[in-house]
Amino acid sequence: MMRETDMILVTGAAGLSGSAVVRELSRNGVPARALVRDAAKALALVRLPYVEVVEGDMARAGTLDAALRGVDRALMISSSNPQMVETQCNFVDACKAAGVGHVVKFSGRESGIGFDPTKFRFTGMHEAIERHLEASGLRWTHLRPSQFMQVYLREAPTIAAKGALLLPLEDIRLSPIDIADIAQIAVAILVSGAHHGAAFDMTGPEQLSMAEIAGLIGEAIGKPVSYQNVAPEERRRAMVAAGLPPFMVDALDEQAAERRRCPQSHVDLAAHDLFGIRPATFAEFARRNAAVFRGEAALVGS
Ligand SMILES: NC(=O)c1ccc[n+]([C@@H]2O[C@H](COP(=O)([O-])OP(=O)(O)OC[C@H]3O[C@@H](n4cnc5c(N)ncnc54)[C@H](OP(=O)(O)O)[C@@H]3O)[C@@H](O)[C@H]2O)c1
Repeated sequence: MMRETDMILVTGAAGLSGSAVVRELSRNGVPARALVRDAAKALALVRLPYVEVVEGDMARAGTLDAALRGVDRALMISSSNPQMVETQCNFVDACKAAGVGHVVKFSGRESGIGFDPTKFRFTGMHEAIERHLEASGLRWTHLRPSQFMQVYLREAPTIAAKGALLLPLEDIRLSPIDIADIAQIAVAILVSGAHHGAAFDMTGPEQLSMAEIAGLIGEAIGKPVSYQNVAPEERRRAMVAAGLPPFMVDALDEQAAERRRCPQSHVDLAAHDLFGIRPATFAEFARRNAAVFRGEAALVGS
């Protein structure tokens, strides 16, 4: 049961995962505050019932007073960028100073399938932030989702133009999860105010090869899509041509290398089961986003 003073804050609220969590809180009638850097870019959130949008920069404590006032629980999300550790550790320190009770960290689970944190930078960065939060004296919970299904929306231009999913992933299998599932799990934790000191690994319901993922996208859009394994250098050239910053090109290159080194994912639905959430299948996700995969709608990711 929520108390009136139990304000929930979601950071990274204009992003892919943060906006999904804010929409889920609003849909459930849970009052929440959404932290964004620029409210002009978050007009869709401003219109949601029960949601208060505030501006602030997680990396600059002095900008967070209004965002953190009266907050009991915060869901901490920021971008996968070179500043992620500094940004989130600074935010943890600001939460501590402001008397926030509980920080839920939106993390990643790839160390759980064998990724070497020294070889894939985001695994190492999430681990460092988790350790900082655990040592802060705040109550904490870690959410560790597997690969998002929404990652495949980035491949929509090639799928629409060539009927092909081009990735340097050989015959690996992954268990991608729908961000909508993660949002439901995050909301259950935030509303409960419980689960302190717990880390929740979570995946989608199926272990899928890239050929199976391509096939499911093809079924959803009504035309064949084939998986083609490409050389890592070819993938790098495509990412550079698509305008990805060098840091992200290098990070995704490292991630693909770690995926080839750890080719077997596994399914972990313990968090879904605990909170009574039915896991979305990749086929459902692909059907919901068929217009994006056909190249007929913008890449917003739902
Ligand atoms: N992709 C995957 O498969 C996957 C799997 C597991 C975990 N993850 C993790 O999930 C997390 C969220 O990913 P996402 O795709 O939802 O991210 P996203 O769409 O890039 O959103 C991140 C948000 O954080 C905000 N942000 C960044 N720095 C900030 C700062 N200093 N102050 C305030 N806001 C700031 C950004 O604001 P602006 O809009 O102003 O830039 C953006 O809206 C990442 O940490 C990622 O490593 C990803």
